[in-house]
Amino acid sequence: MTKLLIPQTINDYAEDFTTPENELLAALNRETHLKIELPVMLSGHLQGSILQMLSHMLKPHRILEVGTYTGYSAICLAQGLTEDGHLHTIDINEELQDMCFRYFCNAGLEKKITQHIGKAGDIIPAIDEKFDLVFIDADKQNYHLYYDLVFDKVPIGGFILADNVLYDGEVILPEDQQSKNAKAIHAFNQKVRDDARVEQVLMPVRDGITIMRKIAN
Ligand SMILES: C[S@@+](CC[C@H](N)C(=O)[O-])C[C@H]1O[C@@H](n2cnc3c(N)ncnc32)[C@H](O)[C@@H]1O
Repeated sequence: MTKLLIPQTINDYAEDFTTPENELLAALNRETHLKIELPVMLSGHLQGSILQMLSHMLKPHRILEVGTYTGYSAICLAQGLTEDGHLHTIDINEELQDMCFRYFCNAGLEKKITQHIGKAGDIIPAIDEKFDLVFIDADKQNYHLYYDLVFDKVPIGGFILADNVLYDGEVILPEDQQSKNAKAIHAFNQKVRDDARVEQVLMPVRDGITIMRKIAN
C-alpha cells in the first residue's frame, strides 16, 4: 500500500492550497474507494492536479497512458490535449472498462480517449502513433520494458512520466530488504539515470514521479 512519504499534515496543507477536485473527479475517487479493489492505486487529488497542470503546460497532441485503472489520471492528463488531441490508455483489467467509459463520457472525453484492453507489452508496439507525453503507471516489474517500447514513439523534446518511483520509500533500503517490485523500480531508476538520451527529475511527490525529457534518439 502506498504510504505518504511526506507528513499527512503537509499533504493536507498542499491539498488545501491546490485548486479543489472537481465534482466529476471527486465522484470517481469516491466510487473507486467504495467499489473497486486497491483504491490506493488511484492517483488522487494532488498527483492528479500535477498531471493535469503538466498536460496544460505541454499541450500534447498525443498522450499514451500505461495503466488506466478507473480512469482518474487519464481524465486529468486529457485536460491539456490540443483541440484535435487524443489519449490512448492501456489496462489489462477488462472489468474496469465500463466504469472508465462512463466517466470518460461524463467528462465529455469519450471521443478523445481510446481504451485498449490487454497486456501493455503487446499493445504498445501495435499502436501506430508518436506521443508527446507518456505516463507509465502499470505493473512495476515491466517499467523497463514499457520505457524501451515507448522510447522510439516519443520525439526528441517529448516527455515520459513514471509513477511510484520511490515505491513506499523501499528503494532506499538495502537490497535484501527490498520487495521484488522495489528492486525492479530501483533498477528502472538506475536505467533512466544512466541513459544519456534523457534528462530527468525525480519528484518526491506522493509515491515519487520521475519526469523525463527525451533529448536524443
Ligand atoms: C496504479 S494502477 C493505475 C492508476 C491510474 N493510472 C490512476 O492514476 O488512476 C495500475 C494499473 O495497471 C494495470 N496493469 C497491471 N499489469 C498490466 C499489464 N501487464 N498491462 C496493462 N495494464 C496492467 C492494473 O490492472 C492497474 O489497473
